[in-house]
Amino acid sequence: MSERNTHGPVLIIGSSNIDFVMEMSRLPRVGETMTDAHFIQTYGGKGANQAVAAAKAGYNAQFVTCVGDDIFAASMLESWSDVGLDISHVIRESGVWSGTALVMIGEAGNNYLSVAPGANYRLDERYFPALRELVECAGIVVLQCEIPKETIAAVLKFADSSGTPVLWNFAPARMRFADDELRLARFLVANATEAAYLSDMEEVGLHNVASAAATIAGIGIESVIVTLGHEGVYVYRDGAGEHTGPFKVKAVDTTAAGDTFCGALAVATVDEMPLDDAVRFASAAAALSVTRLGAQPSCPTRDEIDSFLAANGS
Ligand code: RIB
Repeated sequence: MSERNTHGPVLIIGSSNIDFVMEMSRLPRVGETMTDAHFIQTYGGKGANQAVAAAKAGYNAQFVTCVGDDIFAASMLESWSDVGLDISHVIRESGVWSGTALVMIGEAGNNYLSVAPGANYRLDERYFPALRELVECAGIVVLQCEIPKETIAAVLKFADSSGTPVLWNFAPARMRFADDELRLARFLVANATEAAYLSDMEEVGLHNVASAAATIAGIGIESVIVTLGHEGVYVYRDGAGEHTGPFKVKAVDTTAAGDTFCGALAVATVDEMPLDDAVRFASAAAALSVTRLGAQPSCPTRDEIDSFLAANGS
């Protein structure tokens, strides 16, 4: 095993998608056709959004994902290089499309999202030896839930045996993991829907987030962070929870707000900010992201985050 590298890169292992986005006055009802949409094509995927957010937040960020051999793949890779992301470990698979997402954005930035995983599900056991090496040298590993479950479980084990902290964004919440796997996350980030899934509660909101976070932490997870959108963030750690209010901004598109939060939180953590400050830094990044359209184009730079914090009382 190689030496633990506390100043190693932020290593994001996860999905990448081509996002086809329709922005409209409101979301359609079932069977209804909306005819006022504005179309943009951007690059997304929870893993890629978090990787871009980390690189733009000013830290050495390494990204591992599988892309396909479609006409978008080369330009997607170029867009990641352009923001300074280390893409030397990105895998190109043939005979498959890169992950693809259809995103509909309606009133107040709310969205509908449908994802075809494509090449994302090719990140399988063939790559475990390479993943193990990267995990051993990383300062922190960032995971989501848009790649095969077996790969997530393997990365958690590699991180555990090398002592590399893991920030796990449990999104989307569609896979069941054993408690023994869940507790390998040092930081578990979930939105209200994901927190409900993990705590077996019907729904989670500001009124019961304390109980949901305590239940999830009870699995044995060091820090549980529940993002509540325009209602702020709830952090549970060392047997105590704290709610932080949101930054007030005008939301245009909430897609990837959670991803921006996670990428920035990972950077703040390897930068050794105390958790409260790290969460505030990440919340500022997410607040900026919702004021702009698209996933990766909306991630703010370090200067933008610092100026926003300075202008908003930090
Ligand atoms: O979290 C937002 C992302 O989810 C989008 O970019 C889309 O690609 C899906 O993965």
